[in-house]
Amino acid sequence: KKIGVIRGGKSAEREISLKTGKAILDALNRQGYTTVDIDPANDLHKSLYQEDIDIAFIALHGRFGEDGTIQGLLELEGIPYTGSGVLSSALAMDKVMSKRIFNNLNIDTPKFAVLKADKIEGKFEEIEKNLIDNLGLPIVVKPALEGSSLGLSIVKNKDELIGAIKEALKYDQELLVEEFIPGKEITIGLLGNKSPQVLPIIEIRPKEGVYDFKSKYTKGMTDFIIPAELPDEVYKKAESLALKAYQALKCRGMGRVDLRINSAEEAYVLEVNTIPGMTETSLLPQAAEVVGIDFDQLVVKILEYSLE
Ligand code: DAL
Ligand code: MG
Repeated sequence: KKIGVIRGGKSAEREISLKTGKAILDALNRQGYTTVDIDPANDLHKSLYQEDIDIAFIALHGRFGEDGTIQGLLELEGIPYTGSGVLSSALAMDKVMSKRIFNNLNIDTPKFAVLKADKIEGKFEEIEKNLIDNLGLPIVVKPALEGSSLGLSIVKNKDELIGAIKEALKYDQELLVEEFIPGKEITIGLLGNKSPQVLPIIEIRPKEGVYDFKSKYTKGMTDFIIPAELPDEVYKKAESLALKAYQALKCRGMGRVDLRINSAEEAYVLEVNTIPGMTETSLLPQAAEVVGIDFDQLVVKILEYSLE
């Protein structure tokens, strides 16, 4: 069977995707699979026809890859692909839509508001007051459709709000403004389709500041505690929230749910990543390793789920 590893693309997370895809290509090649390296930035249609692949391993992050668009194209072509389907990918990519579903299903998620670029002009003071009255401070401002913390700011005082909004608007016309949950950041990997396996919880401790783009991808800038040191009950609650979130969005194959835990040990789901990073510093492979699934085995598992 010929596996097309689709990586790169044209999202803001292109560079991360190239790394994720390279690691996947290497793992498949080590295990004797026939692979072909496909970058959708260079005419995806043509590559799909010319290469005649049997399965697509989607190693794209962000828009035009993690958001259901490529999944739709592959559905039309009848080519099996790894990970979540069209609807699930689109929902998980859109943090606002995901949160609406979480709220609907009583999956705890931080309180939030939505800002649209064309509705900000001339109303900034009113918006600022509303946000702070409803969400308090600090608040988190992020583009609705982005990954790797791109365009994300944590606003600690009112004067920083306008700058944070401008920064996020560089990435998207719709913004999510969220209550900040002080406490711990954790993430939970999941593998599988109908009865997903929940991997050990990772606690993320950036050595300085927040877990932003830089601390995500610079080796040594973050400490990871696997499994996270949490009281039993809290650990179980977080696992069950992650599983609920994964299933609520109808994820398949793999995923990683990001959460925060406050000082009262209450867990909140931030988002679901349907194509989690698989770079050297990435989290899902680390969690898998702890339960004896090495990187090569992880890649094969993900491939096999696409055929179930
Ligand atoms: N969006 C990045 C790749 C992640 O979630 O790992
Ligand atoms: Mg993300």
